[in-house]
Amino acid sequence: MSVLVPTMGALHKGHQALIKRARSMSKEVVVSIFVNPLQFENEDDVLKYPRSPERDIQLATLAGATEIWMPDYEEIYPGEISQRSAGVLGDVFEGASRPGHFDGVVTVVNRLFEIVRPDAAIFGEKDFQQLQIIRAMEKSIEIIGVPTVREFDGLALSSRNVHLSVEGRVSANVIYRALAAARLAPTVAIAQEIISTTVATDSAFVCDYAVIVDEDDFTEANEMTKNKRAIIAGWIDGVRLIDNMRMGA
Ligand code: PAF
Repeated sequence: MSVLVPTMGALHKGHQALIKRARSMSKEVVVSIFVNPLQFENEDDVLKYPRSPERDIQLATLAGATEIWMPDYEEIYPGEISQRSAGVLGDVFEGASRPGHFDGVVTVVNRLFEIVRPDAAIFGEKDFQQLQIIRAMEKSIEIIGVPTVREFDGLALSSRNVHLSVEGRVSANVIYRALAAARLAPTVAIAQEIISTTVATDSAFVCDYAVIVDEDDFTEANEMTKNKRAIIAGWIDGVRLIDNMRMGA
């Protein structure tokens, strides 16, 4: 059995958790490192994306990768690109704020699957909408989600956290506080009230959305919704941060 862990590099402990999970399932763990231009809004963002190949190789190997694959652009996109659509799930929340992003993600993930042909693939729950879109797209490969790895104060690990100022890093904790406070609320309406008021307590956080959704279709949750998830996105110091948490005990 082979397991693929797709990444864009700039690896941290969150990626290592994905690789460790893969290794617990299989002796063959392929980690791909490819900064996919199709999922960025502009070329500048692609160029600015952090790259640390030597450190990535070290961290991936330590976590249990048996193959580290760093394809070049031509290997992934030889000739004309056949763009895939992420469907309706790709148009809301992260997709609404980053048009075309999820189409780019499913296009590259589909190519990685075509080339590697893994039995299973591992993705982080931090990008929960991405995970659900890939689950909806792919039925022949087992798609496994791994819980988010957090800093000491609850901030989700992300390659973007290094761009936060010292004050911004302190403010970023408001996201986790809002999720954790909403999680155990007795009703969806109260959870929604808590999450909205909590994110508003830190003026450094520019909120994009802070909502309780049905985790299967990303429609707004109500009392009848079985699987509810709180999702938050916004900016601090111009750095986009996203996070989510499953509702309930
Ligand atoms: O989550 C990521 O790092 C990327 O979106 C992925 C899945 C590797 C596709 O480029």
